[in-house]
Amino acid sequence: MAVSTDCQRAGLGTQLLVAAMEVASEERVATLDLTVSQKNVSAVAFYTSLGFRVVGDVPDMFGPDRSRLRMRRSIEGFGRAALGA
Ligand SMILES: CC(C)(COP(=O)(O)OP(=O)(O)OC[C@H]1O[C@@H](n2cnc3c(N)ncnc32)[C@H](O)[C@@H]1OP(=O)(O)O)[C@@H](O)C(=O)NCCC(=O)NCCS
Repeated sequence: MAVSTDCQRAGLGTQLLVAAMEVASEERVATLDLTVSQKNVSAVAFYTSLGFRVVGDVPDMFGPDRSRLRMRRSIEGFGRAALGA
């Protein structure tokens, strides 16, 4: 996912991901996984702020030396109240 550079840090990414988690929860998805480059400090901070935690890495996902962090969040019983959003 991405938010236009001039609109970042205004809560739009949070709104998008919260909406996606709500839809997934309604569809009875229990857990969400994502991958992100460990070099992408701002994205890791963003996902962490939404309750995702690093659970491992995916070696060479996009080729040699291009591994990714795997992050995971339970969304069982997820709702806006759960995040205070
Ligand atoms: C990652 C991304 C989608 C976040 O979108 P956003 O709309 O800027 O995020 P939000 O404003 O909802 O940020 C929510 C929280 O995430 C964290 N966060 C977001 N950007 C951050 C940054 N650059 N540095 C540190 N923390 C950050 C903060 O905790 C922030 O809360 P705060 O602003 O109250 O401190 C956006 O930075 C982006 O599009 N990046 C480029 C594309 C990309 O790397 N996507 C991820 C690919 S896996």
